[in-house]
Amino acid sequence: MGVTLKDVAREAGVSVMTVSRVMNKKEYIAEETRRRVLEVGERLGYRPNQYARSLVTHKTDFVGMIVPDIGNPFFGDLVRAAEQVARGRGYSLLLGDTGGDLEVEEQYIEAFRNRMCDALVLVAPRVPDEVIHEVNADVPLVLVDRFINDPEITLVALDNRSGAQSAVDHLISLGHRRIAFIKGPENVPNSHLRYQGWRDALEKVGLSETEELIYQGEFERQTGVDAFHAFEKIEPSITAVFASNDLMAYGFVQAARTAGYQIPGDISIVGFDDIFLSELMHPPLTTVRYPILEMGTAAIECLLDSLGSANPTTLAETYERELKHELIVRESTAAIGTVEKPHMEEHRVT
Ligand code: RIB
Repeated sequence: MGVTLKDVAREAGVSVMTVSRVMNKKEYIAEETRRRVLEVGERLGYRPNQYARSLVTHKTDFVGMIVPDIGNPFFGDLVRAAEQVARGRGYSLLLGDTGGDLEVEEQYIEAFRNRMCDALVLVAPRVPDEVIHEVNADVPLVLVDRFINDPEITLVALDNRSGAQSAVDHLISLGHRRIAFIKGPENVPNSHLRYQGWRDALEKVGLSETEELIYQGEFERQTGVDAFHAFEKIEPSITAVFASNDLMAYGFVQAARTAGYQIPGDISIVGFDDIFLSELMHPPLTTVRYPILEMGTAAIECLLDSLGSANPTTLAETYERELKHELIVRESTAAIGTVEKPHMEEHRVT
C-alpha cells in the first residue's frame, strides 16, 4: 500500500486534517507547517488519491470534449486548440469521438457526466435540443458549431447559411448557372443551413433549385465521389459545384479528374471549412474558411471563464461577434469559358 495522509501526518507531527488542507491548497495554514508537510510528503513519496480528492473538492480538473469525426482535420484542429488552452489553465481534456453516431454522442455525454468532468465542450450536432438543455442544467457546457435557442447556453458558432451563400455568390459572379450542391446528412442542422445558403444565392439571381442538382450523403470524401457519378449523368451538364465540406470536395475533384474532367476547366468547385490540406490540393481548393483554431480556443476560454462567472452567455456572445467566416479564392474556381477544354478519358473512382 502506498504512503497515506496518516503516514505524512505522523512523520510531520501534525493532524491528518492539516495534511489534507495543505494537499488541497486550502488557506489559513502557517507557512512553516505547510512547508514541513510538503517536504515530508515528497520525502515519503506521497501521491494524492485524485479520486478521493475529487469527492471532497467536487472538482476533477477534467474537461470532456465530444466531436463527430476526429479523422476530419476540422475536428483535429479544433481539439488541438481546445486542449492547449485547457492544459495551460490546469485542466486535462478527455476526448470522445462519436463517428457521427447519435447513440455514441449520447453515450459519451453520459459517461463524461458520470465521471464528473468539470465541464463539457460539445461538438455534438445530432443530440436533440432537449438533451442539451438537460445536461446544461447539470454541468457547465459550451456548444460548438451549432445553434440552440436558449440564452442560458454558451455557444461558439458561425453563420453557416451566409457562409454557404458567399460560396455560391462567388460561382455566380464567375458566370456559372448550373451549380450543383453536395449536401450533408439529414440529422445535422448545418446541412440544412448550408443548403439554404445555396438556395438563397440561386434565388437572388432568379434561379430555382431542382432535385437533380442536389446529392445528399455524409460529410466524407466518398460522398464527393458518389456525387460526381450522380451529377455526371444530368443534362444540361453542371458547370460548378458547392460541396458542404472540404472532404466532400476532395472526393468530387478526385473522381472528376480521374474521369478526364478538368477542374476548373469543366467544373468549378467550392468547399467549406478550409482545413489545412485544402491549399495543398491540386488544384488548391476555393473554400469558405472557418476560423477553426480560434473556435477551439474561444470555446474552451468561454467555458473555463464561465465556470466562475455569474453570466455565462456574455463571453460567448462576444466571441460570436468576433468569429467570422471568409471566402478563400484559390484555383478550383474559374469564370466559364476561360480555361481550355479537357481531354476526356474513361476512368472511374469508386
Ligand atoms: O461534421 C462535418 C462538418 O461539420 C465539418 O466538416 C465542419 O464543416 C462542421 O461544421
